[in-house]
Amino acid sequence: MSLWKKHEIFETKSLVLLIGILVVVAIGGLVEIAPLFYLKSTIEKVEGMRPYTPLELAGRNVYIREGCYLCHSQMIRPMRDEMERYGHFSLAAESMYDHPFQWGSKRTGPDLARVGGKYSDEWHRGHLVDPRSVVPESIMPGYPFLAETRATDRDIADHLKTNVVVGVPYTPEQIENARADMHAQANPESDDVDAFLERYPNAVIRDFDGNPGTVSEMDALIAYLQMLGTLVDFSIYDDKANLR
Ligand code: HEC
Repeated sequence: MSLWKKHEIFETKSLVLLIGILVVVAIGGLVEIAPLFYLKSTIEKVEGMRPYTPLELAGRNVYIREGCYLCHSQMIRPMRDEMERYGHFSLAAESMYDHPFQWGSKRTGPDLARVGGKYSDEWHRGHLVDPRSVVPESIMPGYPFLAETRATDRDIADHLKTNVVVGVPYTPEQIENARADMHAQANPESDDVDAFLERYPNAVIRDFDGNPGTVSEMDALIAYLQMLGTLVDFSIYDDKANLR
């Protein structure tokens, strides 16, 4: 029987054809999916990435609560116009500790993936209280209550713990000291600053809201905004990867 004849069975018996299709598709699926179970990580490691500090995490929670993601993306695409405006395209590793990620799907305002360090804390304060005070044509709503609302520190350790469940490598020491660390980062005078820096090297310690004494939601949100996109030092990577 020629090969041609053997093939006839597939063409004349639809059930055989169906089973044949299933077998072939299953092989294709296995080839694609099985290796993923043996890879330790599908995200390439990148130097500089660390989990959020408790204060930054609290700020991120405010960002999510207030729905900032409805108008702002955090995902710079590898296209020339985006990179000219926002900087190096976003890497997968840069959102590896984001649960859930904040890539967003709409840009009523600009992308915020690399907004860290672009403005002063003072600018952010003015802008968040009343966006029109610094950008007259802005349509962004104001969030003046953030400056008057204490950031909740009661449950911050639980937030760290919850992140551990989904794979963020917070240490037991970081969880235990979460509350103290949250206050230390917004209070350069604090005695806990050295211990905090040991737990989170390169974290920025400042009185972000310009109101010493209390740690407000404004402190938390600005701490978060000011670190966005600043962890990876792209100057140490090959210029070719920059696509410019
Ligand atoms: C209704 C849409 C909208 C919402 C909601 C919104 N923004 Fe904006 N945002 C804008 C627009 C439009 C701009 C550009 C004009 C301006 O700078 O105010 C902007 C600008 C910004 C900028 C300056 C970015 C840059 O590179 O110049 C920051 C930072 C920012 N927003 C943060 C936030 C935060 C934090 C929240 C949530 C508390 C938020 N925004 C909520 C629309 C929005």
